[in-house]
Amino acid sequence: MPWVRWAWLAGPGGAGNFLTAERPSCYAFHMLREIREDIQATLKRDPAARSAAEVVLFYPGFHARLAHRLANALHRRGVPLLPRGIMHVARFLTGIEIHPGATIGPRFFIDHGMGVVIGETSEIGADVTLYQGVTLGGTSTRRVKRHPTLRDGVVVGAGAKIIGAVEIGEDARVGAGSVVVTNVPAKATIVGVPGHIVAYHDESNGVIQRLPDPEWERMNELDRKVQELHDLVHHLEEHAALEHEKQHSR
Ligand SMILES: CC(C)(COP(=O)(O)OP(=O)(O)OC[C@H]1O[C@@H](n2cnc3c(N)ncnc32)[C@H](O)[C@@H]1OP(=O)(O)O)[C@@H](O)C(=O)NCCC(=O)NCCS
Repeated sequence: MPWVRWAWLAGPGGAGNFLTAERPSCYAFHMLREIREDIQATLKRDPAARSAAEVVLFYPGFHARLAHRLANALHRRGVPLLPRGIMHVARFLTGIEIHPGATIGPRFFIDHGMGVVIGETSEIGADVTLYQGVTLGGTSTRRVKRHPTLRDGVVVGAGAKIIGAVEIGEDARVGAGSVVVTNVPAKATIVGVPGHIVAYHDESNGVIQRLPDPEWERMNELDRKVQELHDLVHHLEEHAALEHEKQHSR
């Protein structure tokens, strides 16, 4: 059956399936199970999603991931051009650009999707969520690992850019609009440009600790300084006016 062959190729292991003695039908079912898990993950993480049919028909993130399964399997078998062609069409239809070489784990969810870019050597673990406008970008022009690694459970907010071969630890959260260029520990929350950690998971007591925001602290300090200078100028003006009055009254 052609769909079984396709499923076998695009399923977990892709090209590796040829190297194992497992039957194609097993892979077909495995792949269908993964697709079902993707749908369930979308229903769980997007309160706007009402039914599986809605996800299958109208979620560009789901469509892009489907196309990526096929493109990635062909890419790993060394098929030239076609994988890029598939992702090019998918990009045209969904606004999401995923390189066929990117590694993506189960229950991956891209919400909205428009403007998401995932580079060739990106590695994405299980249960990862990306919002629209996220870039997993490279910094090197050499053919090395140059894109980020996102561990299981990472959430990346809308418009965030994660640049270079950095690692975002398990369950870490990247704030909308942040630019991350360094590694992020597990369960940390990172925001801003450049990204700085505002909360982390304290392993010793299991509590999420909030950290002071250095940018806000600096702005508050500047605000205090401006107020001090304002008061000083006001005081000097009053003093000068008093002196002026005294000189005229003599
Ligand atoms: C980063 C994020 C996960 C943090 O959520 P949270 O744990 O509830 O944290 P809080 O909202 O309490 O914010 C913690 C601090 O970070 C700051 N902060 C939160 N998000 C920020 C962001 N994106 N950029 C800059 N600062 C941010 C808050 O102002 C707060 O600072 P304070 O402690 O000085 O008051 C969340 O703010 C976020 O950006 N989520 C992305 C959601 C998204 O992209 N949705 C798109 C839907 S279409």
